[in-house]
Formats: sequence, C-alpha cells, structure tokens
Amino acid sequence: MTPRIHIETWGCQMNVADSERILALMARKNYQRASSEFDAQLIVLNTCHIREKAKHKVVSRLGQLRKLKRQRPTLKIAVVGCVAQAEGKRLLNEVEGIDYLLGPAKIEQLPELVVGKEQGSALGFNNDQPSTVDHELTPSLSGKVSRYLNIMQGCNNYCTFCVVPFTRGPENSQQPSLIIEQAKKLVDDGVKEITLLGQNVNSYGQDLADQSVSNPFVSLLTEVCQIEGLERLRFTTSNPHDFSTDLIELFASEKKLGRHVHLPIQSGSDNILQAMKRKVNRRQIIKIVDDLRSHGDDFAISSDIIVGFPGETDDDFAETLSIIDQIGFSFIFSFKYSPRPNTAARRFRQQIDDKIKSQRLTKLQSLQKKITEQLNAREIGRQRTVLIHYRSRKEPNIYYGRTAHFRLVRIPSRHDIVGQLLPVEITEANATALVGHVAI
Ligand code: 5AD
Ligand code: SF4
Repeated sequence: MTPRIHIETWGCQMNVADSERILALMARKNYQRASSEFDAQLIVLNTCHIREKAKHKVVSRLGQLRKLKRQRPTLKIAVVGCVAQAEGKRLLNEVEGIDYLLGPAKIEQLPELVVGKEQGSALGFNNDQPSTVDHELTPSLSGKVSRYLNIMQGCNNYCTFCVVPFTRGPENSQQPSLIIEQAKKLVDDGVKEITLLGQNVNSYGQDLADQSVSNPFVSLLTEVCQIEGLERLRFTTSNPHDFSTDLIELFASEKKLGRHVHLPIQSGSDNILQAMKRKVNRRQIIKIVDDLRSHGDDFAISSDIIVGFPGETDDDFAETLSIIDQIGFSFIFSFKYSPRPNTAARRFRQQIDDKIKSQRLTKLQSLQKKITEQLNAREIGRQRTVLIHYRSRKEPNIYYGRTAHFRLVRIPSRHDIVGQLLPVEITEANATALVGHVAI
C-alpha cells in the first residue's frame, strides 16, 4: 500500500512554502497526500511560534493525535517548524508521541528519518553553509497559477518583539542562479505568478560572497522578470529599513512587478518604533510610501501592526491610527503584542494590560475596515487586468483572481479562464473582495 502523509500548516507563507517542500520530498519516497489525518501513516505539524500559546497549541493537538496513535501504533508524528526549533527539546520531555522533531532549517532531513529510523530530531541553522534550492524539487502542485518561491531563510534585524531570528536563525540567501532555475521550472509547469519569499527579502543577498552586485535583490527581481511566460512577480515580506531607492525605482521599469507591496510598519509612533528597534521613523516610512506612489498606478500598500507594545501610551496609539489614515493601507494584519521567549521586549517594564490591547485592536480594525471599504469602492467602474487564480469549488461558473494591486476579484464565466490575464470591469466591492465581469 502506498503510504500517506497528512500535513497541518500554521503561521506564515514561509511555512506554507516549507510544507509544499515537505510534500515534494516525501513524494520522492512514494508518500502520497492523505485525504485526512485518519488515513495517514505520517502526520506532520508544521508549527508557528510568532505569538503566545504556540507551544500550548501544539501540545493540545498532540493530545488529540495520541488517541489516533493508540488505535494505530504504526502512525508516526513529526513536529517541524518554528515551535520545534524554539521549544522542541522541552516538548520532547513533556509530551509523548513525537517521533520526529525538525527545525525549519532541517526539514529536508525528514524523508531519511521517516524511512530509516523509528525516531529522530534535527535542530539548528545552516548558516555555516550556503542555502541551496533543491532543484530536483519542483513540487508540481499541478494546475496552480501562483506559487511561492523561498529565496532566503532567517533574519538579522532583531526587532525587540520578534522571535524569528531565534526560530529561523540568521539570514541565509540562496544563490541567484538556483532561484532563477527554480523559477523557470515553475513557469514551465504553468505557473503565471511567483511570489519570492523571505522574512526580510529586501536584504536578500547581503550574505552572499558576490560583492560585484550592488543590489542583489534588485538584480534578482530584474532577472526573474525576464522569464518568458511569467506574468507577475511579487515579493514578501519587506522591512521598511531595507527598502532601497533602487527597488522603488524598479517598479517604474518592470511592469511584471505587482502594484502592491506588503510593508509591515508595526507602529506609527517614533517612540515605539525606536523601542521596537525598527531602525526607521515615521517620516522615513511615509517617504517610502510616497516614493512608491510617485509612479502613479494607485500603488497598493498593506501592513502589519502591533498594538499594546510595552510602553505604548494613548498618544502613541493615536499616532498609529493617524499613520494608518494618512497612508491608506489596502489591508492590515493586526495583532496584540505578545511577549516571546529570548526577545528583548519581553523584559521591558510597562507591559500593557490585555484589556487595553483588546480595545486598541478593535478600534484599529474598525478604522481599517472603513479604509479598505473606501479604497475597494473606488475600484467600481474601473477596468483592471486580473490574473485568474482558481475556479470556485462551491459555485459553478465562478472564478477568482487578483488585480495587480492584489485585490481579490470574483468573476462569473462560462468558459474555463484559470491562468488567463484578462481585462475585468469592476462592478461591485465590499471590504473583502471586488466583483467584476470580463470586458471582452
Ligand atoms: N507580538 C505580536 N505580534 C507579533 N508579530 C511578530 N512578533 C509579534 C509579537 N511578539 C507580528 C508582526 C509581524 C507579523 C508577522 O507578526 O506584526 O510583522
Ligand atoms: Fe511563525 Fe515566524 Fe516561523 Fe513564520 S517564521 S512560522 S511567522 S514564527
């Protein structure tokens, strides 16, 4: 019987990409995807450590899975990803049922462990060796129009709230030639849009030996844009600190680059930005946004915001509301500050009461909802070029795609239009999506 793998993915796009990689690696060992946890021989929990209760979530999921394990003693369970790296050893001591434990930089060891050993673990980072794309691994998630491509691991910024440098280690960039090769394979596979992924993509390549390239990220984007058949290129996540002028200028010449940037600013208050060690202030953030928008095209910018960072006063929070209003983000992911192990802010005095954090979060989210609604409503009557990503599973003749500005559009069509880049007239809008029809 063909063995089957069930994978659960929490956290960011990096984890989504890692899970795809795990599926591809296991496919080489003949593992097929299970339809659910109940018909799997291997269950993988790909975990996230960014906010609190991360370990708790893993422990409680393992508790549920233990029952399955009792019924089927041959079932194997792997805990991989950021919780494995940060708290894995403690997990192994505290809970039963983990057969394999792998940090995010070690996931490629999973197949050998599963095939060769009853149990095993691998943690730590690979910063002593260059990161390599395994180019036999173009996991053919067949039919997908848009795919992630991981270009680097880790982060060197050490923002005082953030656990990432401790879970994913220091920056470790992949060689440009390998990335290009991988991107070409994806396009040969029918992919029309690629999103380059890293915790801090703007500092891509700073750790590579080739010093002859003045801006390795800009040069990588330029090369990827040249791939014939690729329609759109995006990247995430950008740290405002490393957002270079060259990169801003590239949007003018490279029309394949999406007219949207995810730019996590975290706060609008200079005091808080400084306490977070973001290395940029409010004025510099606004300058990046203005420069991006100087290209016209109604450039869309989205962001991540943390409320209730230690020491955040009502005035600081008011600054955050005002920058949100001033910039007009297309959408925001917003979070209550949560103290994380090893991070500096965990030890800051003046931690904020949870009730205040909740109040601020509600206020911020209702402001953002209004802004998103307004910006989306402005799209009505416009014609946008939409890349059609998928057909609705539930409704016949309904397709979903995205504008260059990353806005989701619902489109009725009697023909299969998946993968096409089409002019679409926008007719309706709400806070989550637009509605339109093909304008040909
Ligand atoms: N508490 C709350 N939110 C956090 N983020 C990162 N660390 C924390 C934390 N300790 C948020 C940031 C980041 C996003 C991925 O998660 O906004 O951009
Ligand atoms: Fe979560 Fe950060 Fe790890 Fe992504 S890198 S899975 S957000 S802890």
